[in-house]
This record gives sequence, structure tokens and C-alpha cells, in this order.
Amino acid sequence: MRTIGVFDSGVGGISVLKEILKEFPYDNIIYFGDSLHAPYGDREIEEIRALCLKVSDFLVYEKKVDVLVIACNTATGAAMTIMRERYRVPVIGVVENGVKEGIRETKNKRIGVIATPATIKMNVYLKEFNQIDKTLKIYQVKCPLFVELIEKGWIDNEESCQLIKTYLNNLPKNIDTLILGCTHYPLIKKYIKRYFTKKIIDPAKETAKSLKLIIGESKYIEKREIKFFVSGDTQKFKKVAQEFLETTVDNIVNIIL
Ligand code: DGL
Repeated sequence: MRTIGVFDSGVGGISVLKEILKEFPYDNIIYFGDSLHAPYGDREIEEIRALCLKVSDFLVYEKKVDVLVIACNTATGAAMTIMRERYRVPVIGVVENGVKEGIRETKNKRIGVIATPATIKMNVYLKEFNQIDKTLKIYQVKCPLFVELIEKGWIDNEESCQLIKTYLNNLPKNIDTLILGCTHYPLIKKYIKRYFTKKIIDPAKETAKSLKLIIGESKYIEKREIKFFVSGDTQKFKKVAQEFLETTVDNIVNIIL
């Protein structure tokens, strides 16, 4: 049986995991949430790369995953190229999938991207969009406080509503598509939707579909194992993950690499 390795700085990658679970019902899955070091997006690029490589080495060399999904935009920007050179297994990120969908969906070619400070600083989305279509107008806005609040368990109150509004106000009014350029953000999509009523893109679905094109369907129909490794607080992780996945999350191991 194959094992799909999925990783993120914390609980955000479960937005990608949710789609992978649907597309691949018979594959083993190992999820790594490096929540001890979240948010990655506030760190220096070199530091993010080093953290990512620790996790990916663990998944590829120790856990022997057959494919590695970087379920984190910040990590995709900081470390995907180096991971593709380093491992023999396929490595897939989220950014190119968000970009593909964004291009498909926009009518007026004005796209907003909200993401972590590091993703914005690296111009991860801007570069990817420009490679495909230079006539697109891309507007990037960093949302530094989102990840921390989502990791803790988002509370839907006046303050958090205000925070969403403040970040979205930094985008021009005439964009017709908004990319959730951080895998944590789909966890609060229902709240973001209140203030952005046009097309919102979560790259997770497209990422799972691309993964299917790369590794195909499982040849086995067996009961699979889903295992979680979390470097930070496992109870917090469990609570947020369960709420988003709408199912019980067991098999969580605390580990510090
Ligand atoms: N979920 C991540 C992303 O997609 C990283 C968030 C963070 O740790 O800053 O960028």
C-alpha cells in the first residue's frame, strides 16, 4: 500500500488533507503539523527552509512516504525547489494549483491573494502568475495574525471580524477572484465570505486532483491508516482538525524533530 505524506506548519494543511482523503480513499496517510514552529510565515526564509527540510527528511527518509505533499504555501515558496532536487519521490505543492484555478476563474484578470508575510515577501504567487500570463493584475496582501488565531481555534467575535475586514480593505474593490494563499485560511473561509462575496479560491481541491494525475488511483482496496505527527500541542491540533474535518481525529503522536 502507498503512503502519502502531507505537511504544514500546523493545522492549516488539513484543508488539503480533507480533499486528499476524498480523492484517495485507500492510501495510507501521514500528516505532519509543525505547530511548535508555527507560524512559519513570520520567520526568515532560510529558517523556514531549514524547518521544512527537517520535516520532509523525516517523512521521506524515516517514514518512507511515496509522495510528498507540501500543504503549505509558505513552505512551497521556501523549499519546494530544493525538495524536488533532494528526493526521489514526487513532491507537490499548493501554489501552482491555486494559480491554475485563479486563471480559469477570473473574468476581469484582477486577482487578489491573501497569504502569510513570508509568502508575500517571496512573491510566490506573483511569480507563478507572471510565468503564465503577464497581463494579469495581481494584488497581494499579507495577513500576519490569521495563522496564530486559527491555530488557537478561531473565535467568531467582533474583533476577529474587524481583522478580516481590515486585511480585505487593503485589496482593490474591483478584483473578481480571491486566492486563499495560505492553507490555514480555508478554515475560516465561511467568515471571509461575509466580506468578499465574489469568487474565493482554495487551492486544496486542485492540489488533490493534480496529485491524482501524478500518482493515479490506488491499486489496493484495503483499510488504510491515517497517522498524525504534531510537534506542538496535540489537544489543540485535535480540536481544530476535528472541527474542520467533521470527524474524529485519533492517532496523533507528539514529536519534536
Ligand atoms: N499554512 C501555511 C501556508 O499555507 C503556513 C502558515 C504559517 O505557519 O505561517 O502558508
